Amino acid sequence: MYIYLLTLWVLQLATALTPPSADPFYLEPANITAYAPGEAIRTRQVPPYLQPYVAAGPPISVRGVHQYLYRTTDTHGNAIAAAATLLIPHNADPTKLLAYETFYDANSEDCSPSYTLRYGSQLNTDGRDILPNMTQPMDLAFLSASLTQGWYIITSDYESPTAQFAIGRLSGHATLDSVRVALTHGPSHNLSSSARYAMWGYSGGALAVSWAASLQPTYAPDLTFSGAAIGGLLPNLTSAIETINMGPFSGAAFVIFIGLAKAYPSFATWLDSALKGDLKSLFFGERGSCVLGEFSGGMGRDFWGFFVNGEGVVRESVPMGVLRGEELRGAGIPEMDLYVYKGVLDEISPVGDTDELVSGYCEQGSGRVRYERILGAEHVTGAVLGSVGAVEWLKRVLAGDGDGDGEGEGKSGVCIKSVHTAWELDVESRVY
Ligand SMILES: *[C@@H]1O[C@H](CO)[C@@H](O)[C@H](O)[C@H]1NC(C)=O
Ligand SMILES: *[C@@H]1O[C@H](CO)[C@@H](O)[C@H](O)[C@H]1NC(C)=O
Ligand SMILES: *[C@@H]1O[C@H](CO)[C@@H](O)[C@H](O)[C@H]1NC(C)=O
Ligand SMILES: *[C@@H]1O[C@H](CO)[C@@H](O)[C@H](O)[C@H]1NC(C)=O
Repeated sequence: MYIYLLTLWVLQLATALTPPSADPFYLEPANITAYAPGEAIRTRQVPPYLQPYVAAGPPISVRGVHQYLYRTTDTHGNAIAAAATLLIPHNADPTKLLAYETFYDANSEDCSPSYTLRYGSQLNTDGRDILPNMTQPMDLAFLSASLTQGWYIITSDYESPTAQFAIGRLSGHATLDSVRVALTHGPSHNLSSSARYAMWGYSGGALAVSWAASLQPTYAPDLTFSGAAIGGLLPNLTSAIETINMGPFSGAAFVIFIGLAKAYPSFATWLDSALKGDLKSLFFGERGSCVLGEFSGGMGRDFWGFFVNGEGVVRESVPMGVLRGEELRGAGIPEMDLYVYKGVLDEISPVGDTDELVSGYCEQGSGRVRYERILGAEHVTGAVLGSVGAVEWLKRVLAGDGDGDGEGEGKSGVCIKSVHTAWELDVESRVY
């Protein structure tokens, strides 16, 4: 028995990967300001295997996996480091690159996709890959669908090595700089220097992609995207928190506030004084866990009940100022073409927020906007049902075929809104 356990332990030591919190690859160099945004600080090649869908399954095999620590810019404009992973599929098409941002929604850097995507990653020292801390990202299905197309994929740890969730400017900058890294270093792995590139993200990943699309004209005018697919968007964190409170997704409210406290010292100070003393440890209790653990830990809880002043806290000046600054509307108008999809019954971010944002883009933007409102779908079903149209749209824009169907080709500022039901996939059935 002891020998058996010892063997297991030794095997585990031999195979376990070092998580980011203990891995010097992620350390920011002292001379970080000497690097340009999107410049690689260090690179490494890791084994070409991704975590399987199920804990005991065989790994997903790809042709190559390369990782980069690169310079990006935090929400206050300071130089910081972030990591990104370049995935090269077996049937790699050197003319196409997708920046896919995962919904890792975490307060722990050990949930970063550069780690959790890798075969052998695990967060529990006892070796069990239990659900709350599973390192199989739920985005794997969408990543696999994209790899199957032959697309090179760059996916970033857009929360940075300090895991700041829901911080718009940081996430946008880190996403844009990861694309610069891929365009600079991809060619040494056969990516064409004239490859087309686009972005895709859902939920937390959409937060990164939507901020990247909005900030691109000012932060990365050197980049020319073929477009961005954005699903399950959260344009307004305040209304999202109000919507999820006491429901199945109320855990996200805690993750958002902890993220804000990491990014804004004034918010951290305010939070410390605003929370009820005896509930502080419960408030921060799940911050070491990945998305399922965090979300299930806060499920059904009354978020406002943790504050001395209850629901009124979001109207206090410090949190209101920070939350206003994190509204996507303030980030600018994207110039690239967009494919936006949203479940009409989304229970995390009300569809009205996305309707309003898209209307503004339609009126003021120069790119084409295609907006699919999926009737009968909520946040989770919307991720799955909307992905089919997103992949089709990405296929067209990455092939240089425009955004499809000839509608609006060659014109700018064209906006197509359509609505389809969750039970049929003919997205053109009801254009309004
Ligand atoms: C930063 O410092 C390291 C270690 O001294 C050095 O190797 C590297 O070239 C420096 N980077 C830049 C961009 O100056
Ligand atoms: C790059 O192209 C060369 C020549 O076609 C090929 O031998 C090599 O395997 C390719 N490498 C990758 C990573 O695609
Ligand atoms: C965001 O939501 C809050 C709360 O519902 C609301 O007061 C605020 O006006 C919203 N902001 C925008 C830009 O719609
Ligand atoms: C997840 O793993 C982290 C790091 O080992 C640990 O702190 C946390 O308690 C774990 N969460 C759960 C729900 O097991």
